[in-house]
Amino acid sequence: MATAPARAATDPHLEPTVYHPREGALGVNFSVAGFDLWYGAKQALFGVALDVQKGLVTSLIGPSGCGKSTLLRCMNRMNDLIDGLRISGSMKLDGVDIYAPGVDVIALRKRMGMVFQKPNPFPMSIYENVVYPLRIDGIRDKAALDEACEGALRGAALWDEAKDRLGESALGLSGGQQQRLCIARAIAANPEVLLMDEPCSALDPIATAKIEELIDELKGRYTIMIVTHSMQQAARVSDNTAFMYLGRLVEYGATDTVFTNPRLERTQDYITGRFG
Ligand SMILES: Nc1ncnc2c1ncn2[C@@H]1O[C@H](COP(=O)(O)OP(=O)(O)O)[C@@H](O)[C@H]1O
Ligand SMILES: [Mg+2]
Repeated sequence: MATAPARAATDPHLEPTVYHPREGALGVNFSVAGFDLWYGAKQALFGVALDVQKGLVTSLIGPSGCGKSTLLRCMNRMNDLIDGLRISGSMKLDGVDIYAPGVDVIALRKRMGMVFQKPNPFPMSIYENVVYPLRIDGIRDKAALDEACEGALRGAALWDEAKDRLGESALGLSGGQQQRLCIARAIAANPEVLLMDEPCSALDPIATAKIEELIDELKGRYTIMIVTHSMQQAARVSDNTAFMYLGRLVEYGATDTVFTNPRLERTQDYITGRFG
């Protein structure tokens, strides 16, 4: 696999990114290079470089406030509407810069499904939640909507629990079911990449285990980026792990290597819980 070149350190006190190249990966479909971001005068990302490997699960870990959500939100241009936001560097989906002039942001977001920390079903039926992206696309054919609904609910491991209550409000589902519903809605749009920002942080351990199993099933079909503050979760679900610290991506590679043999003391300290 081609790894991104080590970037020049913007801050001489911080090490350049350490990479642990992974064997046998399917290739890269999302690539970030020299990515900087400012919220007004405050810089939040510094020279981030990351090759996200296709069909695999990549975890983003690091202490609170280090820029994980910021980086994830940039990947489907969800930060676009923030006043005073400035970026430089590049983010490419299948080689095409998503910040290039003329990029169709709506089309881009369809390729990059997003799931948030707190499940956010719409106040409508389970069925309408799932087919929402298709309705937006103007699809009206009942058979097509039914089929997509079943496929997405099956894909999100929610079909058996939801099939007899598709017309009921989604708000009546448990938290874990709501999160799987949000995953169903995300995959109903047929994305290539699934971005998940701490998708289990509002869930109990059983619901969390179900989401983790689901991530395992979705892998391969989708490229998955997951932000997590749980080291155990990162170790369980991801092939690759990226460790961020103070707005920088400082260590990245195969999860087992990052966890068992990190090259940076800072990574070691974080994953062993010495700070967080
Ligand atoms: N909309 C925003 N406006 C200004 N600053 C922000 C905004 N969102 C995040 N930040 C700041 O950017 C930094 C990174 O935040 P964030 O990406 O949320 O970190 P993480 O997800 O790793 O906890 C923090 O210092 C945070 O306060
Ligand atoms: Mg966050």
